[in-house]
Amino acid sequence: MTSNSNIKKRKKSFNIDAPLHVTGRTKYLDDLSELAGTLFAKVYYSKIAYGHIESMDTSKAATMAGVIQIISYKDIPGENQVGGIIPDEPLLAEQEVHFIGMPILIIVAETELIAHKASQLIEVNIQAKEVIIDPIEAYQRKHFLSDPIALKMGDTDSSFLDCEYVFEGRAESGGQEHVYLEPQGAYAIPNGDGSIKIYSSTQGPTAVQRTVAKVLGVSMNKIEVDVNRIGGGFGGKEDQASPWAAMVALASFLTNRPVKYILERGEDLQMTGKRHPYRSRYKIGLDKNYKIVAFEGQYFQNGGAAADLSPAVLGRTLFHATNSYFIPNVTVDAYSCRTNLPPNTAFRGFGGPQGMYVIEAAIHHAARKIGIPAQLIQERNLLEEGSEFSYGQKTEACEAKNCWFQAKNRYDIGQLESDIKQYNADNKYTKKGLALMPICFGISFTNTMMNNARALVHVYSDGSVGISTGAIEMGQGVSSKMIQVAASNFGIEERQIKLETTNTTRVANTSPSAASATADLNGKALQDACKQIISRLKKLLVTKWDIPKSNVLIFDNNTITSKDNQHSILWKDLIRLAFQNRINLSAKGHYATPRINFDNTTRKGHPFAYHVYGTAITTCTVDCIRGNYEFDAVQIVHDFGTSMNRAVDLGQIEGGLAQGIGWMTMEELIYNEAGVLKSSNLANYKIPDIYSVPKEVAVHYLETAGSDLAILKSKAVGEPPLMYGIGAYFALCNAILAYNAQATITYVAPMTAEKVLMSLYS
Ligand code: MTE
Ligand code: HPA
Ligand code: MOS
Repeated sequence: MTSNSNIKKRKKSFNIDAPLHVTGRTKYLDDLSELAGTLFAKVYYSKIAYGHIESMDTSKAATMAGVIQIISYKDIPGENQVGGIIPDEPLLAEQEVHFIGMPILIIVAETELIAHKASQLIEVNIQAKEVIIDPIEAYQRKHFLSDPIALKMGDTDSSFLDCEYVFEGRAESGGQEHVYLEPQGAYAIPNGDGSIKIYSSTQGPTAVQRTVAKVLGVSMNKIEVDVNRIGGGFGGKEDQASPWAAMVALASFLTNRPVKYILERGEDLQMTGKRHPYRSRYKIGLDKNYKIVAFEGQYFQNGGAAADLSPAVLGRTLFHATNSYFIPNVTVDAYSCRTNLPPNTAFRGFGGPQGMYVIEAAIHHAARKIGIPAQLIQERNLLEEGSEFSYGQKTEACEAKNCWFQAKNRYDIGQLESDIKQYNADNKYTKKGLALMPICFGISFTNTMMNNARALVHVYSDGSVGISTGAIEMGQGVSSKMIQVAASNFGIEERQIKLETTNTTRVANTSPSAASATADLNGKALQDACKQIISRLKKLLVTKWDIPKSNVLIFDNNTITSKDNQHSILWKDLIRLAFQNRINLSAKGHYATPRINFDNTTRKGHPFAYHVYGTAITTCTVDCIRGNYEFDAVQIVHDFGTSMNRAVDLGQIEGGLAQGIGWMTMEELIYNEAGVLKSSNLANYKIPDIYSVPKEVAVHYLETAGSDLAILKSKAVGEPPLMYGIGAYFALCNAILAYNAQATITYVAPMTAEKVLMSLYS
């Protein structure tokens, strides 16, 4: 038996998947053994960004040996519709195509190779129309995906008049490809009775179930979706995993055979949406003490050709428009613009990073014009306890200043700054820059309705435990956290818990694993289920030992003990006893986040359970001859609440940071005027590798009071660290300015080496 201290120790750094990953035993979708008779699907997609389908010739492909069927929208028994929020996205094109990569036909064949060859024999004649890829052009033509939205607090118009300083400008951030290691895919198996089981690489099994049912025109109970784990999602599989599942389900419905489709990397890059590029305008007003008095922003979101999750992403941009700062007068307006790009979608931060980048650009711009360091403005305006956001919520247990000052002290900012100053004085052709990046990120789905979850717990008669939740493991470590929740509630060891796959027949109506809230929502539901079973067990022991209820029983160390220490029983023995006494050893738990609300008409409320805070100090060195750069260090103080799993949480900080730096500095999606993605492979779309990540990443675990709405007081950690990466952009700006104080800074991200070079000599 393990001692209690051992259980506690393991809690701090435990990843159920790590041994599988490092020994190559981890099973993903494509590792499932294929059933005999399995067919393979492949999409024929549009090579034209906008146009009218004049004719299609599938005859050559259809007669190829091994081709079973070529499916068009006409074969869909239900609705040709996969739009999640707004029904504006057909599964297969009908008369028109709206982006390059839009699925038109599905080829079903005996092998993947045959499907691939057949797709090359298809001829679709499309009459091209004028393409729009720029969101501001779309805005001018009033091509919107949803209604514009705004947030307003105070009165910006009148406050600008009283400001000592007012600056206006533009800021742009680029899209970002998710590059989950496992591409999109699904495998459908018909059960013979009209129902279908689907294995899907999705963050949202219920979204898949709902979409497939709609496309097939059947009720949701005919569709079972099962997910073991996925090889990364990063938001890209929150909604956009559904079409592929609908395709294989449709094909299996029509052929009555199992059908599988796993996208090739190139197909995935072409057909799926990415982080939304934004073009934005800002106006910032400060008083003589550098207090930000007023801020205005307009955000033009490049939504692509269909709404997907764009309206929700747009909402979060506004919620995070003032980042970690209190600004009394705010007016922010946002537009979701329809263009001829693949529908853009959720990506870590969900529009928040795009909003936060703009206020940081505005502050950097103001500081430069005034002639002071940006840090001074940042520091003077940090959120305090009780500060109100423009959406009406007030901060509680605000850690903004705590993180900021701890970062400055812990990493000795004074020394860092003087070292950089000295370095820059000593070196002519390499320059260093530094930037601070405070973050504040709201935890909860901004759509209040989605903040709920369920879990199913079985205690088997031998004392072992099986748990099911709605959580999807995508590398973020939620499986380990779920196991920890059950183990700590029952007071048993993690190895006694088996986490089952995520399956819609065991846990229904799930929200996707997203919004960083997966562990909170599913963990709380799991806790509820565990507590129901514990309460039944307690009742049994109170009777058996004839003790008062007040003699509360403690579940710990594989043993249940009365508070007065007079009685105890081993977990295993108790479960055997409960089984003999016909006690129900299974429970279904439910959780809905209390308190949260948001009124879409007044645009005020309390949308977030709590906020996560932190501060990063980024230092970089720029090669002023070549424009190349490297990041010397990123030093972080992060608000974890009370981290329940330090190893997992550290992984999230490091991964999120690298992904954020990638977005801000090197990942550049390039489309030409015809809407063709020029950066369409991983050789010309550069993601961070081992050589480009910071030379040093220091993370200080700020143990804070946390929040009762965080599972075991361990705050959500999935998305917030991505936004530390924004500091990388401004560190580069500051290094450029050290070389050329007159340099033009455009606030157009990503700051690639080419852009650095242009800026150095501008
Ligand atoms: N970490 C890994 N390794 N893989 C992922 O796909 N997705 C991120 C983040 N961290 C992701 C990840 C995103 S976009 C979100 S919303 C959260 O994890 C989702 O998981 P959580 O709610 O458990 O934090
Ligand atoms: N975050 C992530 N995903 C979401 C959200 C959100 O706020 N709302 C709907 N899907
Ligand atoms: Mo994350 S963008 O909420 O999947």
